[in-house]
Amino acid sequence: MSKVISIINLKGGVGKTTLTVGLAEFLVVEKEYKVLVIDLDPQTNSTVSLIGEDEWALRNSSNRTLFHLFKDKIDDTSNFDLESSVVKRCSNLYGGLSNLHLLPSSLDFVQIQDRLINIGQTALIRPIDVLKRSVNDYIKNYDYVLIDCPPNLGLVTQNGLNISDYYLIPTIPDHLSTYGIPQIISSVNSFNRRTESNVQALGIIASMYRSNVTRHQTTLMKMKTKAAVGELSRLFETRIPLASKAADATHFEAEGVNTIKQKYGSSGSPLFEAFSQITEEFCQYV
Ligand SMILES: Nc1ncnc2c1ncn2[C@@H]1O[C@H](COP(=O)(O)OP(=O)(O)O)[C@@H](O)[C@H]1O
Ligand SMILES: [Mg+2]
Repeated sequence: MSKVISIINLKGGVGKTTLTVGLAEFLVVEKEYKVLVIDLDPQTNSTVSLIGEDEWALRNSSNRTLFHLFKDKIDDTSNFDLESSVVKRCSNLYGGLSNLHLLPSSLDFVQIQDRLINIGQTALIRPIDVLKRSVNDYIKNYDYVLIDCPPNLGLVTQNGLNISDYYLIPTIPDHLSTYGIPQIISSVNSFNRRTESNVQALGIIASMYRSNVTRHQTTLMKMKTKAAVGELSRLFETRIPLASKAADATHFEAEGVNTIKQKYGSSGSPLFEAFSQITEEFCQYV
């Protein structure tokens, strides 16, 4: 049975994409799972870090991104084909991972975001069901499906939630970044009630953590206390440290990257160990 997890936060720049791509690569390389990444973010960051800009441009010019799926539903056309849109070998690790697949996003998504609400006038489908109708059977081929969502809870993110079993919230452990978390949780709860779904909180993962910053420590303590009394969802024990290798990891064309240790650091390095441990925790909970 495949498990589908949306990676969400109302804020941008909190490490959603870095977590999505890193977790996907560790699940495939270290755990030998078969993983599909669905990039729903118009920023197209996980797409570009998993296949590079040239491959993205090629696919974007031949109707093979999720933008084309949604555009079809707005314009009542049928240009998008799921099978040929899934990239079946992704990542710059080991010359490409055949068990890491991607449904790419497109920068062009931005143009149609405010027209999504009109879906249903042309196609006989609710705006939140577009992705589900297209991929529902296909995603059963994977152990895990990770969805990189845009930084809001609009219709595109709701398309992701609508096929998800769980959602995961990465956050920088400071006051402003964690401020919106209760809002995310209550919005997903109301999405569940409205759509008779049961998307469950998998947990919160601290990203860009700096152990020498007192503010990070106290924020984590507070979140842990709230999680313990059920006011907040589970806080993962493992934190992703602030590390330049994490930022470098998103460069598909980076030179000298072949093994997972070249990309994330050797065994014992904080970043490699963090991703390795997060992958362990993730597999325990899901
Ligand atoms: N642990 C980290 N250490 C250093 N830089 C990071 C880390 N995680 C993310 N970054 C960088 O921070 C920026 C935002 O991260 P990203 O994953 O793109 O966030 P989001 O997807 O939430 O917008 C990117 O430039 C990324 O490379
Ligand atoms: Mg992102």
